[in-house]
Amino acid sequence: MECRVCSGKLHGFADFGRQPLSDHFVLPGDPAPEFFFHLAVGVCEDCSMAQLLEEVPRERMFHESYPYLSSGSAVMREHFEGVAKRLLATELTGPDPFVVELGCNDGTMLKTVADAGVRHLGVEPSGGVADLAAARGVRVRKDFFEAGVAAAVRAADGPADVIYAANTLCHIPYVDSILSGADALLRPGGVLVFEDPYLGDIVTRRSFDQIYDEHFYFFCAASVRAMARRHGFELVDVERLPVHGGEVRYTLARRGARTPTPAVAALLAEEEARGLTELATLRDFAARVAANRDDLVALLTGLRDQGARVYGYGATAKSATVLNYCGIGPDLVSFVCDTTPAKQGRLTPGSHIPVRGPEAFADPYPDYALLLAWNHAEEIMAKETAFREAGGRWILYVPEVHLV
Ligand code: SAM
Ligand code: TMP
Ligand code: ZN
Repeated sequence: MECRVCSGKLHGFADFGRQPLSDHFVLPGDPAPEFFFHLAVGVCEDCSMAQLLEEVPRERMFHESYPYLSSGSAVMREHFEGVAKRLLATELTGPDPFVVELGCNDGTMLKTVADAGVRHLGVEPSGGVADLAAARGVRVRKDFFEAGVAAAVRAADGPADVIYAANTLCHIPYVDSILSGADALLRPGGVLVFEDPYLGDIVTRRSFDQIYDEHFYFFCAASVRAMARRHGFELVDVERLPVHGGEVRYTLARRGARTPTPAVAALLAEEEARGLTELATLRDFAARVAANRDDLVALLTGLRDQGARVYGYGATAKSATVLNYCGIGPDLVSFVCDTTPAKQGRLTPGSHIPVRGPEAFADPYPDYALLLAWNHAEEIMAKETAFREAGGRWILYVPEVHLV
């Protein structure tokens, strides 16, 4: 198996078996067979990039009815408003600045840029969410960003000061085309800024459900630096972010254009010291994950046998991994509630648990709620305090199985 970045040798370290498309919520009674693939992850012995061993064709995941909405979380709305304000105050202060966002989704970040009257473009292949962005006054191009699209944008709009992507670059196996596209589109002093789940947090928090079809790469400073160098870029800044269970924001600039901040060397040293991308570390992570699975299945089976009522909370894409890996179906979790309209009335992929709106949660409250959206724990627990007050308990399965 070859590394998608450098063609080096890949070593598998975790295997989650046969898995469905994580965002393909099934209509009850739909006779069409679901698409399944083999979810396993490996690390490259040359460039240290952790990545999936099987690639799902992009059109199967990102299409007209891609259901995920960036605006679904109040914390994320605030986060993206902060991102936009910071870009406006730092990178976008020159004459007639221009920012391009990859995977702008429903326009949550770019709306603030548009409202400030700054030139921008969102490149978003999923038609439904792109339409929502356009309805918010965001300029969108419905396309998969890649080298050809970058050249077309450059020809039409001129060079960009910033290319920004959140939770999108790690979704793109053809990252070489993204980086050569960024090279074509950015002005000489421009930057590519992207934030994605951090391999270091995935290992520390044992958050194995960050591994699913759409998350192709699991970045860290070492692997991003190596990837950047192949395309004439340098990693010039890193910033730890608390969102989505722990992310890092990476800033790439053309080599020599900017001096790397001390944070880069510090994170590289930390990764080196803990052996983050070493096979032994990653195999140890996989062994601990298997123990979490056994504990979660034992807990849920015991609760079912006692006649306890258990609901799921948050039909996240990442919940496909935990539900299918653990074999959790409607016998163990009666339904999952979720605020996303396009998921409600459907069944979770592969595991076929009904998805209902958030109002179903209190009608009546369950005894236990499996928090599948654990990355939004604070926000969800704050709005569902009455559940705990009524005697309900949250079940979390990262970093280990525990009740809250
Ligand atoms: N940036 C938003 C956020 O952080 O909430 C949305 C993230 S969503 C998980 C990933 C987005 O990337 C989807 O909207 C998908 O359609 C988009 N995407 C996938 N491949 C892409 C590509 N090649 N170019 C631009 N966007 C892409
Ligand atoms: P994410 O982990 O990919 O951000 O997905 C979060 C999912 O959880 C999304 O389907 C929306 C749902 N959700 C709720 O149902 N209620 C909430 O309060 C929050 C924050 C998210
Ligand atoms: Zn490699």
